[in-house]
Amino acid sequence: MKPLHKILINKDTTFNPIWVMRQAGRYLPEFREIRKENPDFVKLCLNEDLSYEITLQPLKRFNLDAAIIFSDILMLPYGLDQKVKFIKNFGPELGKLNLHEISKIDETNFIEKINNVYKAIKKVSSDPALNNKNTIGFVGAPWTLLVYMINQQSPKKNLKKDFFKDEPFINKVLFIIEKFLKIHIKNQIENGANVIQIFDSWAGLLEEKDLPKYVYFPTLNLVNYVKSLDTPVICFPREIKNYIEFCETVKPDAVNIDYNVNPKKILKDIKIPIQGGLDPKILLTDRETIKKEASKYLNIFKDHPYIFNLGHGVLPETDPNMFEYLVKTVKNY
Ligand code: CP3
Repeated sequence: MKPLHKILINKDTTFNPIWVMRQAGRYLPEFREIRKENPDFVKLCLNEDLSYEITLQPLKRFNLDAAIIFSDILMLPYGLDQKVKFIKNFGPELGKLNLHEISKIDETNFIEKINNVYKAIKKVSSDPALNNKNTIGFVGAPWTLLVYMINQQSPKKNLKKDFFKDEPFINKVLFIIEKFLKIHIKNQIENGANVIQIFDSWAGLLEEKDLPKYVYFPTLNLVNYVKSLDTPVICFPREIKNYIEFCETVKPDAVNIDYNVNPKKILKDIKIPIQGGLDPKILLTDRETIKKEASKYLNIFKDHPYIFNLGHGVLPETDPNMFEYLVKTVKNY
């Protein structure tokens, strides 16, 4: 059985697999080198050979238990023909959302546009390096994709005041997002992804009263869909105001906690396997602090099924040697 499956399916508490969000990325010089030659980020995600190579970069250096496919949650709006660009020191910028246009896209158009993502997954999952490791596919949660598609860029701390103004419009967009998320998930699994992670990076922007409509119900629908394909699913509802209600309603196979969550408290409140938590900024300190902070999570979750990860993506300024030290600390625990 693959390492993450032992935790997610068997609820094993005897060991802690490790992978981290953004493990393939700018903190690695070998990634920056490829990136320099490939200024168009979307094109890079659609280059099956380079996507495969980048996905495996961290596994060549570190003793990780899983590969997460090098792609982006915004490949979904891209597949729907909404313009998506990544601007240096700014982040993603999307074109104006035209409901009439995206309504015309069918499954075949969508798959044709992003088919290389699936080819890259196939290459990764059939590589011998993945024999005893998991291949993680992923999607953005409906809410987070809605935010990007309407807001056209990262919302930072707040949504535009008139974000919810046109509810029928929002409902139609959400409906389309959910339909294509299922298609995207199915194709990732058919090409070898054996765990799916759902990133809800902007769950924290919503008041509790809006969580059922925009987060719980659409995510539950997707989680049930992934489960129906016999694949475990991990949710990351970052900074959500109510992790407990989220877990009780959505029932993913595991929940990734962000670094503001108190691990001791969540352990009392949540029954399902837990992933992550460590503040990525800890990797910018020193070995002693890294060991102390990583051990804190490992100690707290020692009798609970726990996958080691961070409370958000690894920061670009991280020293790969410090990351290596973290992996060793977890493996030697
Ligand atoms: O290693 C991995 O985790 C797999 C690949 C991955 C990327 N993006 C590659 C990437 C994954 C899982 C994502 C998810 C993603 N993308 C999320 C959810 C997780 C989170 O960070 O909250 C979100 C919100 C996005 C959208 C996105 N993509 C933003 C906001 C940015 C710019 C911010 C930044 O870090 O520069 C990206 C770009 C991006 N996606 C990079 C990578 C490696 C950096 C691109 C670069 O090289 O310039």
